[in-house]
Amino acid sequence: MSKGSTPQRADFVVVANRLPVDLERLEDGTERWKHSPGGLVTALEPFLRARRGAWVGWPGVADTEVEPFTDEDMHLHPVPLSSAEFRDYYEGFSNATLWPLYHDVVVPPVFDRSWWDAYQRVNRRFAEAAARVSAEGATVWVQDYQLQLVPAMLRELRPDLRIGFFLHIPFPPVELFMQLPWRTEIVRGLLGADLVGFHRPGGAQNFLWLARRLAGFEPSRGQVGVRSRPGVVQVGDRTVRVGAFPISIASAELDRLARSKEVQQRAREIRRELGEPRRIMLGVDRLDYTKGIDVRLHAMHELLADGHIKAEDVAMIQIATPSRERVEHYKQMREDIEREVGRINGEFGRVGHPAVHYLHTSVDRKDLVAFYCAADVMVVTPVRDGMNLVCKEYVACRHDLGGALVLSEFAGAAAELTSAFLVNPHNLDGVKDALLAALDIDEAEGRRRMRALRRQVLTHDVDRWARSFLEALGTPHAE
Ligand code: ADP
Ligand code: G6P
Repeated sequence: MSKGSTPQRADFVVVANRLPVDLERLEDGTERWKHSPGGLVTALEPFLRARRGAWVGWPGVADTEVEPFTDEDMHLHPVPLSSAEFRDYYEGFSNATLWPLYHDVVVPPVFDRSWWDAYQRVNRRFAEAAARVSAEGATVWVQDYQLQLVPAMLRELRPDLRIGFFLHIPFPPVELFMQLPWRTEIVRGLLGADLVGFHRPGGAQNFLWLARRLAGFEPSRGQVGVRSRPGVVQVGDRTVRVGAFPISIASAELDRLARSKEVQQRAREIRRELGEPRRIMLGVDRLDYTKGIDVRLHAMHELLADGHIKAEDVAMIQIATPSRERVEHYKQMREDIEREVGRINGEFGRVGHPAVHYLHTSVDRKDLVAFYCAADVMVVTPVRDGMNLVCKEYVACRHDLGGALVLSEFAGAAAELTSAFLVNPHNLDGVKDALLAALDIDEAEGRRRMRALRRQVLTHDVDRWARSFLEALGTPHAE
């Protein structure tokens, strides 16, 4: 990362909780920047870089002031968080209240008034930073559940701006959203935008219902389409549009990387290192309780115990990026998953040949692509996921038309990737059957499915997602 001079005010600004790079303090006291985790950054970074935009976000370390800087063509504007704000706004309200509430209450959300205070305070700081950075009439694109109050706060400070908001996680059913003590404030916060975007029409529809019920507006009543027919809410003299824009990945770039000699060689090396098993199953996730890592481990355990598969025949790799490690449910889940990996390996592994290869780490892009190329079956089993980019990445890497995808119906991607083996992650027998079918798929059938999946992923890439959102927002930055 090269640091350049202090950036100017920008015409196109992304505001997200995290910058695309995270500051890391090493034990010897030195610092370095590394790529931030998660799908939001994966999706937005290439787009913003190409447009030389500005990015307002937290640098990933509490109690640290970092001056604005330029990273190649992107202008980065760090917003500081104190350790108390990190605890109350980030770990608390964002990740122990909103995250579980928006993911179908997979674990019980905590409602804590002091966390709400911190959420408001930090949202105001982000809005003020965005107001400072944006040029007259600029387009500002606010991202995700951590910053849902920013659109209204920013509009108050800078009525000249065009403001978009996109939610990267599911928007919950109204019955669940109504649990939130600050539900009206959140809805009003989002209505500060000119365009509010969700992955799926269902999320947009839920939001329109809430705009009527909680904020007293009269939204349009027609069905919202995918990238079409947005709903409309008239807020005073402003028209707020509400639409569905399924996010995606930089498909062509991954396709290119997967075809490279280096990656193909590394993929063969991975198979060799595993002892040339007949089949490799792969899971790649942030270590999050919504991802259903436990589901696939239980399925694997039972398949081994039933004798349907043998450990020397089928190797499973689970690569899990550390995430939100101090939040209670994440700690608990990590213990559960590591205990289950230990149990499976204790019962079915041999010296030098574990049944499950578990890596609690993030791997670099080339290595990740090599893992995708090496895997015969990609297992993506979230109990709820806004979209899930991992499954799209796998498909983009399989130019050989090899491999099979087992995908949860509860990932937003399932609506697009209908040629995957779709499973209900709550039905363990169904997951086991799908894994067996994917492990033993007939070659012609596998190619047919993968061809259909690739047609979808390669024609609907992240650029198309961003352009369709920005076109609906009515900004010149769509091009
Ligand atoms: P989320 O945004 O909830 O983490 P997504 O599937 O949408 O889930 O996006 C995850 C992104 O993070 C993908 O780009 C994926 O490649 C990346 N990723 C996930 N786990 C790892 C890992 N262990 N190492 C490297 N990258 C990872
Ligand atoms: C998901 C969220 C993002 C978040 C990412 C990583 O993709 O939608 O907003 O940045 O997970 O989580 P973290 O808490 O580490 O930022």
